[in-house]
Amino acid sequence: MELRGKTILITGAGRGLGAAMAKSLASRGAELALLDLDDAGLAEVRTACQALGVRTETYRCNVAAEPDVVATFDRVVTDFGRLDVVIANAGILRDGLLVKAKDREIAGKLSLAQWQAVIDVNLTGVFLTGREAAERMIKLGQGGIIINISSLSRAGNFGQSNYSAAKAGVAALTVVWAKELARHGIRVNAIAPGFIKTEMVASMKPEILEKMAAGIPVQRLGEPAEIASTVEFIITNDYVNGRVLEIDGGQRL
Ligand code: NAI
Repeated sequence: MELRGKTILITGAGRGLGAAMAKSLASRGAELALLDLDDAGLAEVRTACQALGVRTETYRCNVAAEPDVVATFDRVVTDFGRLDVVIANAGILRDGLLVKAKDREIAGKLSLAQWQAVIDVNLTGVFLTGREAAERMIKLGQGGIIINISSLSRAGNFGQSNYSAAKAGVAALTVVWAKELARHGIRVNAIAPGFIKTEMVASMKPEILEKMAAGIPVQRLGEPAEIASTVEFIITNDYVNGRVLEIDGGQRL
């Protein structure tokens, strides 16, 4: 798919990877519908994208809330009249050990609230985003592309029962949807990033960052631009379908 003039919706676009994707797609002439809960972040990204000369609209939307997602997709289609690419990027962390214990003393356990919050945003949010995207794309009759953001943690990361389960689920949804939606001209892929230097990660202590980098074969964290360029690759290469692209510097858990 050619990028110029296409309408691309990104969830969690107020900062981090979503913001980096938005700016890079804007520089290639795509029009943007940016969703997030963070109004200030959205406004900043909108200004940066508009400065690149493309139409950019922002929408406050909680991806975990069905009525919110449905209404926002309706507004986007009304505003732009088309929907070519949807990137399900919004995600959160609520890390914790399943059971924290020392010398048979239980110090804590992963709460149901921690579990549910991550499942709601990172798995149900992707389900709702993908479902509403597919419905609109089928109705509009022009095909489309759905890109889900999974994670290296989908393989099972220490301290991330909730996050790993959600991200493995996202990878599985990607394969299911690629099979179901190909007949409608919709391609579905996922990206599983390793450790990427977003605001969240960059604010960690330098010594911890160094330790993290040392465990990665290429000896450094990834750049948001390297995930954004993977998004462009998926959009522009029409034969990429049903795959999870691992962009992690060669790291394995
Ligand atoms: P981030 O925390 O910097 O940005 C996430 C954005 O999503 C924020 O703007 C936040 O307001 C928004 N958001 C959170 N909950 C939301 C909700 N319910 N509805 C709408 N928006 C919501 O995170 P980052 O690093 O940019 O991550 C983006 C995606 O990439 C996430 O799915 C994350 O799990 C995934 N990822 C990130 C990696 C990294 O190293 N940064 C590695 C692997 C995956």
